[in-house]
Amino acid sequence: MDKTSYIEISKSAYRHNIKYIKKIIGKDVRLTSVVKGNAYGHGVENIVPLAEKAKVNHFAVFSASEALDVFNVASPKSDIMIMGYLNDDQLAWAIENGIEFYVFDLDRLSKSIEIAKKVGKPARLHIEAETGFHRTGFEYNLLPEIVATMKDNSEHIVFEGLCTHYAGAESVNNYYRIIKQIQEYRQFARYFSRHGLKPNYRHTAGSAATLTYSQTIMDMVRVGIAQYGFWPSQETYIYQFKRNHAKDSDLKRVISWKSRVMTIKEVDSGDFVGYGTSYMANKKIKIAIIPVGYANGFSRSLSNMGRVLIRGRRVSVVGTVTMNTMSVNLTDIPNVHPGDEVVIVGKQKRLNISVASFSEMSNQLNYQTLARLPGNIPRYVVA
Ligand SMILES: Cc1ncc(COP(=O)(O)O)c(C=O)c1O
Repeated sequence: MDKTSYIEISKSAYRHNIKYIKKIIGKDVRLTSVVKGNAYGHGVENIVPLAEKAKVNHFAVFSASEALDVFNVASPKSDIMIMGYLNDDQLAWAIENGIEFYVFDLDRLSKSIEIAKKVGKPARLHIEAETGFHRTGFEYNLLPEIVATMKDNSEHIVFEGLCTHYAGAESVNNYYRIIKQIQEYRQFARYFSRHGLKPNYRHTAGSAATLTYSQTIMDMVRVGIAQYGFWPSQETYIYQFKRNHAKDSDLKRVISWKSRVMTIKEVDSGDFVGYGTSYMANKKIKIAIIPVGYANGFSRSLSNMGRVLIRGRRVSVVGTVTMNTMSVNLTDIPNVHPGDEVVIVGKQKRLNISVASFSEMSNQLNYQTLARLPGNIPRYVVA
C-alpha cells in the first residue's frame, strides 16, 4: 500500500448527497449507485457499505470484474448491474449469481438464453436502446427479432430493464439531441408495450439528466458523479440553484486527499527547481517536497500550476511534478516542518481546494481526475 498520501471518505457528506438525490427523484424511483471506476476513485469497498446504510441496494458497474469487486463487499440482498463488458465465461458467472447485465446485440441475447438454459437460472437482462449516443444499444429495426426471441424464451429471462444513455445532458449545447433521444426511447418503450413486454425498470438518466430533465426520471436513475458530491457541470448546478433557491442546492464533496511534508530546503536566487529550467528562483526561496507525483494521480500538467494547502495557506507548485514528488513554495509561510499535513483536495482551516479547480488547472474533468486516483492510495472512511 502506498502511504505517501491518503484519501478520506466522508460518511456524512455521502449521506447528505443520497438524501439530496432521493428528494429529487421521489420515493417511488429506485436509485442505482454507479460505482464503476473503483467508485469514481472513492473505493468500492468504502462506497458500497455506505450506500447500503443509506438504503441504496442497486449498484451499476461497467464490467464483470468490477461487478465481482462489488459482489465481494455488497449485501446478498443488493442487486448488481453490468452496463458494459462481459465475456462468455463471465456471462455464466453473472447468470448463476443473479447479476443483471445490459444486452445490446443479438449475439449476447442468444448467448444469455443459451447459458441460462444450461445453468437453470433466468438471465436478468436490461435491453439497451440505441437512441442517438452511438456507443452500445440495439437499433430500432432489430426490435421484431428481439421481441420474438424474448417471448420464445420467456422462462429463461427476466426483463429487468429497458435503458439508454444520453449524449451529454450536462450541457445545454446538447439540448435538442437529448430531447430527440427521449423521443426515440419512448418509441422503443411503446414497441415493447404493444407487444406485451414490460420491463421491471425503465431507466435512462445519469446524474445530469436526473438533475435537469425531470421527464428522464422513470422507474430508476443511475447516479454516479452526484452521489460523490460533484455537479456534472456548472450548468447543472445553476439549474438546481435557481430551482431550489440556492440554500438547498448543495452537494457535499465526499473525498479529501492528503499527504505530508517530506522535507524542506532552501534554493538560492538564480537556481532552478526540479527537472529542466521551467522554474528559476528569482530570490532565495524555501521549498517543501511532497511525496506525491504523477504516479500517484497528481498530473504532470500541474507543474508550476497546481496549489496545495499547508498550515491553512495556499502554496504553489514550483518546477515540474515528477513521478513521485512535487515541490511547493513555502517562502512566505513560517513554522512548516516535515510531517505537517498537506491538503491536495479538501479543506484546511478556512481554505478549500476542490477537485474542480484542480481539474480545470490540469484540463481534466472531475470524472477523469477521480478515476485516475490510484487504487493503492489508502482510503479511510471518516465521520
Ligand atoms: C450508462 C451509464 N449510466 C450512468 C452513468 C453515470 O453517469 P454520472 O456519473 O454522470 O451520473 C454512466 C457514467 O458514465 C454511464 O456510462
